[in-house]
Amino acid sequence: MEEYQLYTTMGAGFESVVAKELQSLGYETTTENGRVFFKGGQKDIVRCNLWLRTADRVKILLKEFTAKDFSTLYDETYAYDWAMLLPVDAAFPVKGRSVRSKLHSEPDVQSIVKKAIVDKMAAQYHRRGKLPESGSLYQLDVNIYKDTVRLSLDTTGSSLFKRGYRIEHGGAPLKENFAASLIKLTPYDGTHPFIDPMCGSGTLPIEAALIARNIAPGTWRKFAFDYFDWFDPSLHEELLEEAKSQVKPAEAPIWASDIDQSILEVAKLNAHNAGVLQDIRFKQVAVKDFTTDLENGVIVSNPPYGKRLKDKQGAEELYRQMGEVLRPLTSFSQYYLTADPDFEKCFGQKASKKRKLYNGNLRADYYQFWAKRK
Ligand SMILES: C[S@@+](CC[C@H](N)C(=O)[O-])C[C@H]1O[C@@H](n2cnc3c(N)ncnc32)[C@H](O)[C@@H]1O
Repeated sequence: MEEYQLYTTMGAGFESVVAKELQSLGYETTTENGRVFFKGGQKDIVRCNLWLRTADRVKILLKEFTAKDFSTLYDETYAYDWAMLLPVDAAFPVKGRSVRSKLHSEPDVQSIVKKAIVDKMAAQYHRRGKLPESGSLYQLDVNIYKDTVRLSLDTTGSSLFKRGYRIEHGGAPLKENFAASLIKLTPYDGTHPFIDPMCGSGTLPIEAALIARNIAPGTWRKFAFDYFDWFDPSLHEELLEEAKSQVKPAEAPIWASDIDQSILEVAKLNAHNAGVLQDIRFKQVAVKDFTTDLENGVIVSNPPYGKRLKDKQGAEELYRQMGEVLRPLTSFSQYYLTADPDFEKCFGQKASKKRKLYNGNLRADYYQFWAKRK
């Protein structure tokens, strides 16, 4: 079976987390800004879409070349064997991006690439006039960086953060792959307790439970490759069955609490949809009243920050309460994501390590307090 140059995309700053996940799936990787490259065939495309917890997308790099003018861009694109990839009725939108390159106009880059593909398909399929584009979606993209052009095909469809277990609601939930990345930055592997004392709609404890139970995060959804006419349809079924057979029971408790009962109801529904409701103990409790007899685990949480949910003063009062109640739990490694630069001051302790992250467009810090294990 054909081997492809594949790559994953991810949120800024998570390249090493995704690379580590790929390596633990058995791939050799090379990393650049926003992308991790690896090689594989159709089965690997299915495996990575199904199993990667922290990436956004899996793409096939179709062709790479240098172009400093539009005629080279057209000719090199035309030279690719598009009929091998795209059936005559394929819908194939082209997304263009260009950074620090001679060909800087993204709309022009996009339309030249589209035109070259349309012309080549018309020639290969002996068609005159418009192609129908009424069939399956093959999302293409052209990315130019310092005059190097990459043509790629997306195999994922809607981004991998859309696991399919979440119900819509009004709050400020973390994206699922972002939550999984936060957990992957901790030592959590399911063998020790996990606590989120401000769990909101439950993204962190649900992602923790999926890790603990070895449930593939792509279990509930379809991917773009499912609709490619040259893709072996038995592979998805085969790997999904294999994944289901690898699910295991949780070894350690997962606790999730929040002050707001209505958001806990959303969290429970999400956990139910993800098949992990019985693995998470949900409880309505304010941080100031939080107690636990668990030890030697991991606490991961994203408390409200002034900018988004509450005013800064209210948030900082909560950080003080967190300091009083959670700081003494020294057998836990503790990880808090917030955009408030005064978090450590309010919490009452300097973090062992701070990591700058982007939660969407919002710059935040991930404050890490390492455990003193008993
Ligand atoms: C930014 S949200 C967490 C979002 C969550 N990670 C998710 O993905 O849905 C912060 C949560 O802290 C909760 N919260 C605010 N004050 C609290 C308090 N004093 N005690 C416990 N939870 C509190 C809010 O109800 C809200 O659900």
